[in-house]
Amino acid sequence: MPTSTPAHTNDAALALRGVTVRASGREILSDVDLAVASNERVALIGPSGAGKTTLLRLLGASLWADEGRVDILGTDPSAQQGGALRRLRERVGFLRQQDNLVLPLRVAHNVLMGRLGRWSTLRAAWNLVWPTDLDRARDALRQVELEDRLWSLPEELSGGERQRVAIARLLVQRPDVVLADEPVSALDVRLGREVVDLLLALAREQGAAAVVSLHSLDLLDRGFDRVIALREGRLVWQGNARDLDPATLRDIYGADYERLLGEEADGR
Ligand SMILES: Nc1ncnc2c1ncn2[C@@H]1O[C@H](COP(=O)(O)OP(=O)(O)O)[C@@H](O)[C@H]1O
Ligand SMILES: [Mg+2]
Repeated sequence: MPTSTPAHTNDAALALRGVTVRASGREILSDVDLAVASNERVALIGPSGAGKTTLLRLLGASLWADEGRVDILGTDPSAQQGGALRRLRERVGFLRQQDNLVLPLRVAHNVLMGRLGRWSTLRAAWNLVWPTDLDRARDALRQVELEDRLWSLPEELSGGERQRVAIARLLVQRPDVVLADEPVSALDVRLGREVVDLLLALAREQGAAAVVSLHSLDLLDRGFDRVIALREGRLVWQGNARDLDPATLRDIYGADYERLLGEEADGR
């Protein structure tokens, strides 16, 4: 019996085989093969327009492939509908670059929305008025060091604090897969590091698979197990962050490479 589970077996949390996505008559993703083991944390890099957001939407069951097979937590999302599709999506936590919070709702309610999927509509509505699960929200906020902001409105928080609240919501959601689309590109380097560290710690504690796209290279050393690179819709490289040498980066980023170096030099 094997003692460990390599990413290419059926036990992968996420698996794409020969996946192509088209829009407006052209290929946005071309023939992508990818497997992410449960408990594996992957960084996704590539220049703007490479297809990172499209890949993440595919993995989050909010977009279907035109060709190939997609497997999310053992199910083919395109074969699910209604309640089954909703339950699958509830097992996937998604963090965007910004605007993750519902603005008119206080932090407590935003955090508790991580549980909405598991409540009846009535109970959910009741909790939007008067949360009965405050301890749970407070616990999650304590983990992101924002316990004192329970009753704040999102507009009263900084960008970094809002992302931490969004992570607290993921803590309450307890997803089996964590997807994040450039979650720190609106933050400075230090805050970005904090948010990525929290996200990876959450995935680790939860034993969740994670795929996090990053717009720059300075966070690749935060504990990812693997880096994958997209260029023009194709998976062109994967490996350890340590092995990303200048020649490889030039291949991945093309004309964007110089801009990338400029940003690194600026401390962005
Ligand atoms: N719905 C769509 N219709 C047409 N083109 C799209 C659509 N979604 C994305 N694209 C195009 O596909 C390419 C990849 O987009 P995206 O996945 O957002 O890349 P990234 O996140 O790496 O910047 C871009 O050229 C984008 O303009
Ligand atoms: Mg994008």
